Amino acid sequence: MDRMRSEGTPPGTLGIGVVGAGSVALRHHLPVLARQRGAEVVAIADPDAQSLAAALALAPAARGEATHTALLADPRVDVVAVLTPPASHAQIAIAALEAGRHVFLEKPLAASMDDARAIARAADEAGRVVGVGFVYRRHRLVTEALDLVRAGALGRLRSIIGTMTGAGRADPRRGGALLDLASHHVDLWRLFTGTEVTSAHAVAGNDCAVLSARMGDGTAVSVTVGDALGANHELRLLGDAGTITLRLDRFDGLDLVPAGALPGDPPLRLRRGLASMRSLPAMVRSHRAGGDLSAAFAAEWRDLLSAVRGERPFQPDASDGFLALEAILQAEVAG
Ligand SMILES: NC(=O)c1ccc[n+]([C@@H]2O[C@H](COP(=O)([O-])OP(=O)(O)OC[C@H]3O[C@@H](n4cnc5c(N)ncnc54)[C@H](O)[C@@H]3O)[C@@H](O)[C@H]2O)c1
Repeated sequence: MDRMRSEGTPPGTLGIGVVGAGSVALRHHLPVLARQRGAEVVAIADPDAQSLAAALALAPAARGEATHTALLADPRVDVVAVLTPPASHAQIAIAALEAGRHVFLEKPLAASMDDARAIARAADEAGRVVGVGFVYRRHRLVTEALDLVRAGALGRLRSIIGTMTGAGRADPRRGGALLDLASHHVDLWRLFTGTEVTSAHAVAGNDCAVLSARMGDGTAVSVTVGDALGANHELRLLGDAGTITLRLDRFDGLDLVPAGALPGDPPLRLRRGLASMRSLPAMVRSHRAGGDLSAAFAAEWRDLLSAVRGERPFQPDASDGFLALEAILQAEVAG
C-alpha cells in the first residue's frame, strides 16, 4: 500500500492511529511510540479538545480528529490503538477491523461479554493482528519470575496472592476495580499456571475488592484491588519448593526464598542487601530510561509491530482478553 507519510519518514514505517488521548495514552503509549523505530503516530482521535491537544504535543506528525470514524478515513493508518474506556472498545475495534486495520486494544477487552464476543468474531473474520494490552506480561520482573517458575525453582506452584492498588480516585467509566485492575492479575494467573480459571468469587467492601479463583491445575489464586489507597503492586507465588515475592514497582523487587528458609534469616537479608547494592547502576540506567513499566510498554509495541509485519504472532490476543474478562464477569455474578 502506497501511503503518504510525513516528511522524513522512512519507507515501510507503519502508521499508528491512536483513539483515546487520556491518561494511558499520555503517560505510556505516546512517549513510547515517539521512540519506537518503524512506526509513527499519524492520527489521534478524541472528542475532548484539551486531551487531544496534549496528545498532539507528544506526536507532532499526527493529525487530530474528534472521532474514530474520521481517523479510519486516513489511509496512512495501518494500526489502530484503542485507548478509550472499556465500554467503547467494541465499537471502535470492530470498525477498525472492518476497515482492514490491525488493532491494539487496551485491557480489559470490553465491559460486557456481548461486546467481547463481537470483538472476537470480528477478529476471527478480519484475519488481522489483534493485541490486548496486558502489559505486565512484558514486565522484566514477571519475565524473570516466569523463567524461575518454568525452571522449577518453586517446585509445584500452589498459590498466587496479589495486591494492586492505586492512589487515584476511582473512575466509574473504567468499569470498577475488578475490570480495571484485577484483569491484569487474571492474565498473570493464566500466564504463570498455563491453565484457565475454573471457578471465581468476588467480594467487595470498603472501596476494595478481592477476586479469588481456582485455576485448572488446582492453583489457588487471589488479588486485592482498590483505588484511593497507597500505590502497591505485588504478587507472591507460593510453591512447595519456595516462594517468590514480586514488587513490580521496585527495580530490585524479586525475592526468592527456598522452602525451609525464613525470609528474615540474616544470611538471606545480607544477600538481598548486597544484591540491591550491586544492582544500583542498572537501576539508575533503568530509571533514566523511564523504568520497567515503560520498558514493558515499549516491548509491547515492538512485538505488536513485529506481528503486523508478519514476523511472529502477538500475545495476549483477543482470546486471552476474552478469557480474562469472562473470569471476572462470571465471578461478579457469583459474588
Ligand atoms: N495497561 C495499563 O497498565 C493501563 C493503564 C491505565 C489504563 N489502561 C486502560 O486504558 C484504557 C483507557 O484508560 P485511561 O486511564 O487512559 O482513561 P481516561 O479516561 O484517562 O482516557 C480515556 C480517553 O478516551 C477518550 N474517549 C472516550 N470515548 C472515546 C471515543 N469514542 N473516541 C475517542 N476518544 C474517546 C476520552 O475523551 C479520554 O480522553 C482503559 O481500557 C484502561 O483500562 C491500561
